[in-house]
Amino acid sequence: MARPKIFLLITFLLISSFTIAMAGYNIVDFGAKSDGRTDSAKAFLSAWNAACKANKPAMVYVPPGRFKYVEGLSIYGGTLDGRGQALWACKMAGRSCPVGATALTISQGENVLVSGIKILNSQNFQMSIFGSTGVTVERATITAPDESPNTDGIHVQMSSFVTIKDSTMTTGDDCISMGAGSTNVWIEKINCGPGHGISIGSLGLSGDDEGVQNVTVKSAIFTGTQNGLRVKTWAKPYKGMVKGVTFQNAVMKNVQNPIVIDQNYCPSQKNCPNESSGIKISQVKFDDVQGSSATPVAVKFDCSRSNPCTGIELKDIKLRYQNKRAQAFCKNARGTAMGIVEPPSCL
Ligand SMILES: *[C@@H]1O[C@H](CO)[C@@H](O)[C@H](O)[C@H]1NC(C)=O
Ligand SMILES: *[C@@H]1O[C@H](CO)[C@@H](O)[C@H](O)[C@H]1NC(C)=O
Repeated sequence: MARPKIFLLITFLLISSFTIAMAGYNIVDFGAKSDGRTDSAKAFLSAWNAACKANKPAMVYVPPGRFKYVEGLSIYGGTLDGRGQALWACKMAGRSCPVGATALTISQGENVLVSGIKILNSQNFQMSIFGSTGVTVERATITAPDESPNTDGIHVQMSSFVTIKDSTMTTGDDCISMGAGSTNVWIEKINCGPGHGISIGSLGLSGDDEGVQNVTVKSAIFTGTQNGLRVKTWAKPYKGMVKGVTFQNAVMKNVQNPIVIDQNYCPSQKNCPNESSGIKISQVKFDDVQGSSATPVAVKFDCSRSNPCTGIELKDIKLRYQNKRAQAFCKNARGTAMGIVEPPSCL
């Protein structure tokens, strides 16, 4: 695959409204050009330095456009408040509303570090990593209410060598979601909840998808989430694959679906495709998953009729429902179980 052109697009959505009391530093006044080609790094740094020297509250203003095309960017600290409440209300009322902005997007970046950022109440995804290589997000705190629509914590797509660690996410959707073309992803020490868990997918909604490969999720704690560790694909014939996934050392606290592969994904339960998923899922390992399920079925593998799941591995699983034995459900799923596995494996 051709190496993506190295540039980085950062969208700060919150800086769109000026407060009169603030000193504004428009990057364009410092020489930035929004033509999508000119390197505006110097202008950013000059505006930043000027704002830091101001003797009253200051704001660096980035007008709409494409400015920054660099590799090797580090972002330390900072708070992004997406003020999504009005847009969520519109969406929840079922009116037709804009999709909404993502608080921070790293697009076509290389060697990017985001350390200690706080993101809250984004209109849509809180953070998105797209078409990038070598992105590390550490010590992030991402917060949106339980009922806020589509506020995924971090969405990864068409990206490789992505690390997300030591972070806490409270969201209305997936804490972390990995879409098509997520490869070599390492996720470690995550607190998730409320939210919809850590998910691969959804895949296969509107066309063939680039595969998801070599994903590790290690040491995650899920509290009151809808799902824990999940792979989801639509029941449509579009092709793709999920291969080489390790979910290791997870704690579930009252999670509705702690372990789930769902190849009939259809969240609205309306006009569901009801075909057979063309996404092939293989080599997915669940190792050391403990805690409580909020529903009787703690382990669910609902795989594709035409592409059964293969090489599923369960090892040292201990999940209970209301302190009683929980159940496991398998359909079109093949694999092995090792060590203590509760509920008993149906593979
Ligand atoms: C899998 O991804 C990790 C990074 O998450 C990387 O260190 C490792 O080399 C990759 N393994 C393979 C076989 O590509
Ligand atoms: C889905 O398809 C199967 C097999 O074609 C059929 O038996 C079932 O009734 C369908 N379900 C729905 C909800 O349409």
